[in-house]
Order: sequence, then structure tokens, then C-alpha cells
Amino acid sequence: MGSKITITDDIRYIGVNDHELDLFEGQYIVPNGMAYNSYVILDEKIAVMDTVEVHFGEEWMGNLLEALDGRTPDYLIVQHMEPDHSANIVRFMDAFPTATIVASMQAFAMLKQFYGHDYADRKLVVKDKETLDLGGRTLTFVSAPMVHWPEVMMTYDPKSKTLFSADGFGKFGALDVDEDWACEARRYYFGIVGKFGKQVQALLKKASALEIERICALHGPILDENLDYYLGLYNTWSSYGVESEGIAICYTSVYGHTKEAVELLAAKLEEAGCPKVAVTDLARDDMAEAVEDAFRYGTIVLASTTYNMGVFPFMSDFIERLVDHGYTKRRVALIENGTWAPAAAKTMRAKFEGAKEIEFCENVVTIKSALDDTSRAQLDALVAELMA
Ligand code: FEO
Repeated sequence: MGSKITITDDIRYIGVNDHELDLFEGQYIVPNGMAYNSYVILDEKIAVMDTVEVHFGEEWMGNLLEALDGRTPDYLIVQHMEPDHSANIVRFMDAFPTATIVASMQAFAMLKQFYGHDYADRKLVVKDKETLDLGGRTLTFVSAPMVHWPEVMMTYDPKSKTLFSADGFGKFGALDVDEDWACEARRYYFGIVGKFGKQVQALLKKASALEIERICALHGPILDENLDYYLGLYNTWSSYGVESEGIAICYTSVYGHTKEAVELLAAKLEEAGCPKVAVTDLARDDMAEAVEDAFRYGTIVLASTTYNMGVFPFMSDFIERLVDHGYTKRRVALIENGTWAPAAAKTMRAKFEGAKEIEFCENVVTIKSALDDTSRAQLDALVAELMA
């Protein structure tokens, strides 16, 4: 795939696939790699939409030159300054000395910070709703602050009805791997953009005024059918709505006793008719997947060992991540284990301070070392409360 992806006669894909990356943005595993998308609009004037990550400059430039077929670009539109998209700006500006950079004021400040200069004599600063005439079409810029950096703007092309959406509607995964969109888009959204639901809602409102037939994000596939599905998911996610019926259980376990309780709980919930129980071992599974599940379902059950008179480190980290990402409007149930002084439930509850609209289940399960009749009865009571 790569540069062979067709968009329209005059919009070409010139992005690259990265299968070497260990952690995207320094923290997210990407089993199916990552795509850094870039596009070129070939009109009377030529505009290139963003660059790509630092290791792919040569491949990207090759794609660009092929698409240009001897012509010279007039503009480089910089929608987002994060280096996975901006790292080849200098290469571009050196290769095409007559080109102008088009970006927000804040993007130019970041350009100077990252790369040492802001092309003062070759820059065009644009604001929300301002336009750029390419001859056969006039692009409109749509500012999208905090989706997911403050300088971000998106670009609308009314001729092809395309929204170039920067990181919005992006996903993990290279474009030469076939996989479900929602799974990796959801993990991407809640990990990277999730905290900024309000800003995404504002953006969706702006987008609703545009006639959109195609979304070209900076990561992930070009979306050109069934757009209501993608827009609907973004609306659910950014409004912190419940996407799927079911319960997420996230746990830590040292010697397997808490895990045994979790497995028993999961079996009982399924037996009671819970449509989906998603279980994550916070020490061993991908925590970004657990964060995604916590936002996907309306209820999470947290089960943790007591540790240092508090909570196990992986659970502590997990709750902090949820709160940091704006966790809200959810029901939380607590299971603790402790051999001499169980304190995990109290600690977990306290760690949600700062998260709004969290409802805690009345039934708390306390395991003393291993499940016994008392804790089994507590689990039954919790199942009844969860399924009521
Ligand atoms: Fe894909 Fe926020 O960079």
C-alpha cells in the first residue's frame, strides 16, 4: 500500500508505514505498527499536508516527488507539530525553497522550539475559518485545539468534501495490515485524546456544519464510507457515554488468590447474563487496553492486593491514568485482598478523588489471603448488585 493508496485524481496519499517502532509516543505498544499519513493536493497550486516521522524522510520524499511528477509544491500545510508529523519540515523547506508553510501562530512558535527557526519570510499564519485558495478549490482551516495539542488545526476541502482531520479519527496500526478500525482507534483515542472530550465535542459541532464525504487523518485508514459510524463513535467517546453493554474487570494478583476471585466473579457475571466481561491483568496485559475498556463499559470492577498499607503499584498507576484521562460517569466496584490489614479498597476509592460522577457499589469484597465462605458470599452480593 503506502503511496499507492488512491484518494481522488488530485489528492494523493504520500504517507509511510512504520513496523520498527517499539512504543508510539514513548508509551503505546503498536503490534501492527503505525502509519504516518501525509497527502498532497494537486491543484493549480500544490499543497502538501504535513510531513512524517523522522526515520521516514527519504521514503516520504520519494512518495512526494512521485506524486508531484516534476511539479513544485507551493505550500506545506502543518496541521500538527508533534514530531511524528513535523520531523521532515526542514527537509521539505530545503528541498523546495519557494514553498510557504501554512500553520497556526502556535505551530510556528513550536516550529522554532523544535527545529530552531520558524521561516519568518516563508510563512503564512492562519486562524480558524480562514481560507487558502489553490485555484480549483479553496481550503478552509478549522482550529482544533487540544485534539490533541493546542496548535492543531484541521483542513476542509469543499471540492472533494474531505476533512483532513489531523490526529482526530486516527488509530494505531500501519496501513498494510488489515484490522478492525474501532478497536485500535478506541485505544488510540482514550490514550491520546481522551482527556479532551470537551474539545472533541466542540470540533464535532464544527464538523456537523460541513458536508463531509471523506476523512483523512494523520494516522489510520482514509475513511470514506459509513462516516456516521465513525462520527457516532467519536460522539460517544468524547461525551464519555457508554459504548458497549458489559463490565470491565481490572486486577492485580501476587499469588493467584485475587485472580481466582476475579475469575469466579467473571463466571458468575456471565452466568447471570452479563453480555460481556472484559478481564485485564494490569501487571501483564497492555494497560492502554484496560484504560480503553474502562471507558468503553459503564462499570468497572477493580480487584487489588493490599500493598505497603495501600494498593498494588499497577492498580495505583491504572487509577491515576483513569483520573488523568478524565474518567467520569461510571460505576466502580471494589475487591480487596489483604492477609493482615486489608486496605486496598479504601485506597482505591480515595484515588478517584478528582474524578467526577463516579458511583461506587455498596458491596465491597474483602478477601483475607484466599477466598472463603465469607468472601464468596460477598462476591455473590456484588454480582446481584451489578446485575440488578
Ligand atoms: Fe500523531 Fe499528536 O501526533
